[in-house]
Amino acid sequence: MEEISLRDLFFILRKWMPLIIALTVIAVVIAGVLSFYVLEPEYQTFTTLMVGKPKDYQSDARLEYNEILLNQKLVSTYGELVKSRTVVDKVIGNLNLDMSYNTFTNKVSVNLVKDTEIIKIQVTDHDPYLAADIANETAKVFMDTVKEIMKVENVQVIDDAQPNLIPVKPKPKLNMAIAGVLGLMIGVFFSFLVEYLDNTIKSEEDVERHLGLAVLGGIPEVRGKDVGLISMTDPKSPFTEAFRTLRTNIQFSSIDKEIKALIVTSASPTEGKSTISLNLASIIAQNNKKVLLIDCDLRKPKLHEKVGITNFEGLTNVLMGERTLEDVVHQYVGENSFYILPSGPIPPNPAELLGSNRMKSFLDSVREEFDMIILDSSPVGLVTDSAVLSNIADGILYVTAVGQTDIEIIKEGKELLDKVKANIIGVVLNKIPTRGRAYYRYHYYQYYSYYGNEPRKKKKKKKRRAKA
Ligand SMILES: Nc1ncnc2c1ncn2[C@@H]1O[C@H](COP(=O)(O)OP(=O)(O)O)[C@@H](O)[C@H]1O
Ligand SMILES: [Mg+2]
Repeated sequence: MEEISLRDLFFILRKWMPLIIALTVIAVVIAGVLSFYVLEPEYQTFTTLMVGKPKDYQSDARLEYNEILLNQKLVSTYGELVKSRTVVDKVIGNLNLDMSYNTFTNKVSVNLVKDTEIIKIQVTDHDPYLAADIANETAKVFMDTVKEIMKVENVQVIDDAQPNLIPVKPKPKLNMAIAGVLGLMIGVFFSFLVEYLDNTIKSEEDVERHLGLAVLGGIPEVRGKDVGLISMTDPKSPFTEAFRTLRTNIQFSSIDKEIKALIVTSASPTEGKSTISLNLASIIAQNNKKVLLIDCDLRKPKLHEKVGITNFEGLTNVLMGERTLEDVVHQYVGENSFYILPSGPIPPNPAELLGSNRMKSFLDSVREEFDMIILDSSPVGLVTDSAVLSNIADGILYVTAVGQTDIEIIKEGKELLDKVKANIIGVVLNKIPTRGRAYYRYHYYQYYSYYGNEPRKKKKKKKRRAKA
């Protein structure tokens, strides 16, 4: 995820949209609940005072002007006076308030309206009536104090404080809007962070960029516990379509050098080697080819389970010379040209057995009899089995499951194969999400639209229309 294009950004956002929306809604709801039910409302009111004596304003214009200037200077002095201990303590005493000086001054603010002679005493309290009382009492005590100290009577109340029943705090709409924006931002940030930290292969471009290999097929993720032989049981599913595409692409890569024995491996376990070997072998067999599928995973053989055959005897017995292929191979019921050879008993030395001359001569012998041999194997990142096998097979199909294995591990697996000069013919991207995650679907849209999915949808629509 080094280079993110605008398109990627868009699809990341679409992919994470439910989370982003959920976070936004949750933030708005929390802010709403806090604003409406938890936070105690605060009310605000103020009195306006003016410095200067109205009666002076009648006569001399110049005098008037000078006095205004003087009064404006006085305003700052008076502003300080309002919050003086003398005034505050008197107000607290007069109103019988249970309040400290600091609490009081936190509730009261004195605003000097710039270049005027106006002083505003603003009071905020949880009780709107108390707020008005404090404001009015403060104004009164302040005027008395001015009279006492300055010996002048030049402050007038212009507006008495009235209880204001509309709270100034909390502001639910504003709080909810801010919370919504925050929730949205956190959601977007989180989704980009997760995408950024996600080091798995997610698209065909990722494969090409990190591995320098071609993607020969993209297999959709199917629901259900264990994926079996869908390419046999459900010929019209997108899953089966994907295998037809894979079969065609393998044929293309077989043009220069015939690929008859093909290993299916992956970097780590459970990426879908067995699932893909099985369905690939079956889809090739359906093309009138004689196919032998061998379970070469001598560590965790699974093929027999997927098709419901026994694994008492198999490849290992043949390699030990105890049985012939005919003795232990299973012909798939319903598809005469499809043969499955289970692993047989697990040996103590799988890599040795798979790299033995016997294995080579066994493979050489079946090459003549079959059109295609698919070898399901162990993960290349864990054991050397598939690297060893690659010497005697013609090519390797490298399976990787979308969003499952760390790119570094996938790269290391590929490097191990490169070291033994294995012929990796390409990558199969497995478990491609088809629903819900638009981001992935976008990248794989081509597969499903081009190879048969879309025409079927159109047909359905036509039918529906015909009914109507
Ligand atoms: N295309 C797919 N969609 C959904 N599940 C899959 C798909 N391919 C494989 N699986 C599941 O992943 C698990 C591992 O698959 P398997 O083929 O056994 O992997 P491996 O052989 O690489 O260990 C199984 O449970 C299988 O059903
Ligand atoms: Mg397996």
